[in-house]
Amino acid sequence: MRLSGKKIVLGLTGGVACYKVAELTRALGKEGASVQVVMTQAATQFITPVTMQALSGNVVFTDQWDARIHNNMPHIDLTRDADAIVIAPCSTDFMFKLAHGACNDLLSTLCIARPAHVPLLIAPAMNVEMWQNPATQRNLAQIKADGINVMGPAAGDQACGETGMGRMLEPDQLLTEIIASFQKKTLVGKHVLITAGPTFEPIDPVRGITNLSSGKMGYAIARAAWEAGAEVTLVSGPTALPPPYGVKRINVQTAQQMHDAVMACLNIHMQDVFVAVAAVADWKVANASDQKIKKTSETDTPQLAFVQNPDILALVAARPDAPYCVGFAAESEQLLQYGAAKRIKKNIPLLVGNIGHHTFGQDDNELILFDAQGHKAIERADKQTLASKLIDEIAIRLANNTMR
Ligand code: CTP
Repeated sequence: MRLSGKKIVLGLTGGVACYKVAELTRALGKEGASVQVVMTQAATQFITPVTMQALSGNVVFTDQWDARIHNNMPHIDLTRDADAIVIAPCSTDFMFKLAHGACNDLLSTLCIARPAHVPLLIAPAMNVEMWQNPATQRNLAQIKADGINVMGPAAGDQACGETGMGRMLEPDQLLTEIIASFQKKTLVGKHVLITAGPTFEPIDPVRGITNLSSGKMGYAIARAAWEAGAEVTLVSGPTALPPPYGVKRINVQTAQQMHDAVMACLNIHMQDVFVAVAAVADWKVANASDQKIKKTSETDTPQLAFVQNPDILALVAARPDAPYCVGFAAESEQLLQYGAAKRIKKNIPLLVGNIGHHTFGQDDNELILFDAQGHKAIERADKQTLASKLIDEIAIRLANNTMR
């Protein structure tokens, strides 16, 4: 649960996208947040306070003059212990109010009255023409200049039947943005390149050699790096995972394709960090067939020959423009000796060892970090928590280290 103990004021303004906020409310609760819903009168036309009360488990406020608050000052009471205020959906009109400091209903008054340390996040939702209107864009620029965090919008089909920019982000994307807003921004301005998942080495057009890597750890690291503010590129072998929000994903199959994609990224833009999490096949089939190999008798077996694949991590580490390189090792025995030796062999500043070799596909794990100073453990946790801790460790080393 990544929002445990967080108090979030969730403000709804008028828009069809209110229906998506029902799901967001539940998702925030599942992550451990307590949600206080405040709705404008227009929002109550799209979804009822009864629904939002049921989903949030808290009474809903819609009116500045609400006698349920002892001192009758809900705009003060509701914001003093809030960790964040989220406006979703945020209408064109509400963007105008925020940009101009209007306070003529509870929600706008509450935004103005929030203490300076309480972040305000908005999820705009409107018709494409309303979004593109110069007045809205002026208000948007002012809102951003005032330090309000604008989430989205996205482009796509709209409830009105038109298509274009102005769709509210999906509930899972909003949840990701809200969680990210609470993370330390240790990698702002940095470019992070990550490999993840297995590779697939063809034997013929329908068969191949792969491994059990699920990609979960690499994807979790990509997400953690994005949450820390980095520009993230993920070169991924075949996995069942959806692309992580905010991350550029490049799909590949073979180790050679992974190598080529990684080198192309390094040539297009200098990378600050390279994290090689992929379980890359050490060998590929030298005599892979263009056609499906047929069974010609009851006893025949194909004779496969192998050649080595490029060692992507070692090749990146050997480049003159090498980023700060982080490797992974999944050893089945003697992790301390093999881990330390592998870091030196690959000539990288940091190597991460998985404790226990049955980590593929698991949701939690335990890591050991090997660097020039020795080794230290990151205690067992779910992969997303481990990934955030690893990104913290990388950011500290990057800040202290002129060696890239
Ligand atoms: N790696 C890579 N390219 C390869 C093989 C491995 O980039 N062709 C990276 C992995 O992503 C991982 C690290 O190297 O970060 C360690 O990989 P591993 O296979 O455990 O090490 P090897 O050097 O192949 O040694 P061994 O198989 O003997 O343990």
